[in-house]
Amino acid sequence: MASDPERNGSPTENIVTVFGGTGFLGQRIVSRLLDKKMGVRAVSRHPGRDQPRASPQLKRIEANILDRPSIAAAVSGSRVVVNAVSLYVERAGQSFERVHVEAAADLAAASREAGVEKFIQISGIGSDARSSSAYIRARGRGEEAVKVAFPQATVVRPAVMTGPDDTFLTAIIRLLRLLPVYPLFGNGDVRLQPVYAGDVAEAVARLASGQSDTDAHVFEFAGPHVYAYKDLVREIAGLLQIRPTLMPVPYPIWTLLATAAEWLPAAPLTRNQVELMQDDNIASGNFPGLKDLSIEPRELDAVVRMIDGSR
Ligand SMILES: NC(=O)c1ccc[n+]([C@@H]2O[C@H](COP(=O)([O-])OP(=O)(O)OC[C@H]3O[C@@H](n4cnc5c(N)ncnc54)[C@H](OP(=O)(O)O)[C@@H]3O)[C@@H](O)[C@H]2O)c1
Repeated sequence: MASDPERNGSPTENIVTVFGGTGFLGQRIVSRLLDKKMGVRAVSRHPGRDQPRASPQLKRIEANILDRPSIAAAVSGSRVVVNAVSLYVERAGQSFERVHVEAAADLAAASREAGVEKFIQISGIGSDARSSSAYIRARGRGEEAVKVAFPQATVVRPAVMTGPDDTFLTAIIRLLRLLPVYPLFGNGDVRLQPVYAGDVAEAVARLASGQSDTDAHVFEFAGPHVYAYKDLVREIAGLLQIRPTLMPVPYPIWTLLATAAEWLPAAPLTRNQVELMQDDNIASGNFPGLKDLSIEPRELDAVVRMIDGSR
C-alpha cells in the first residue's frame, strides 16, 4: 500500500529514500518508484535543481552524505535506503575514499540504526578493493565497508550506463558527428557491455519495492551485448550512417587530456573514466542480472535513437 512520505513515519512505512535521487541514475530510480506508487524521498545537496518530476508521493530533501546528522534525519522512518551518490573527480574535502567508502558506510550504519529493512548500494562492475586505480579501489572498498555496517545490504553493480543526458553514448554520438577521425581508447579492444539506465533504475525499483523474489545480495546489471570499444563505435556510426576513420590513441595521452579536462566545471572527461576504459567492463556471469528480475535489457539502437532523436 502506498504511504505518506512524511519524515516522521515509522520504519514500517513504505518509504524509499534515494540518496543521489537527483542524479542521472537516481532520478530514474525515483521516477520508477513513483510509478510503483511508493513514497519516495529524493535526497541530495541541491534537491530542486533540474527536476522534472513532481508528485504528492515525493519529498525532496537537502542533505549531504558527508554530514552524519543530516543523513540520520534523512533516513529516519524509511523502509529502504538506496545510495546512488557519485563522485567522479576528487575535490577539496571530497576524496573517493571519503565519499565511496566512509560516507557510504556512514549512510549504511545510520540506516541500520534507524531500523531500515533494506539498504541498496549502487557500485559498479569492475569494483575491486585491490585495484591500483584509486577510484576502482574505493568502489570495491565501499562495497566491503557497507557490508560491515549493514550485513544484509544489496550491492548493485551496473555496467556503463546509457540514456539521454548520459556521459558515454552522448559523447560518442557528438564526436562521431563532429570529427571525421574518431579517437579510440587505446586500440579500442577493451570490452564493454553498456546498459540502459532506465533498465537499471527499474531493476533497483523492483528490488526496493519487494517486486522480486530473489534473495541474492549482489547484482550485475549489464546490457544485452558485449562489444569491443571499436566495434561499439562502428555500430553507433552505422546507426548514424557515418563512416569515420578510427584512430588508436594511447592511454597515457587520454590520462593527460583527462587531467586537463578535470579543471573544467563539468569535466567532459575524467581520469577515472580513462582508468575504467583500460580493463574489460562486462558482467562476470557470477551474479544475477536484469533478466533474473524479468527485465529484458534495451537494445543499443533504441537508446541511440532516444539520444540522437532528442537533439
Ligand atoms: N553513470 C554511469 O555510467 C555509472 C556506471 C556504473 C556505476 N555508476 C554508479 O551509479 C551511481 C550514480 O551515478 P550517476 O552517474 O547517476 O551520478 P550523478 O549523475 O553524478 O548523480 C549523483 C547524485 O549524487 C548527489 N550527490 C553528490 N554528492 C553528494 C553529497 N555529498 N551528498 C548528497 N548527495 C550527493 C548529486 O546531487 P547534488 O550534487 O545536488 O548533491 C546527484 O543527485 C554512482 O555510484 C556511480 O558510481 C554510474
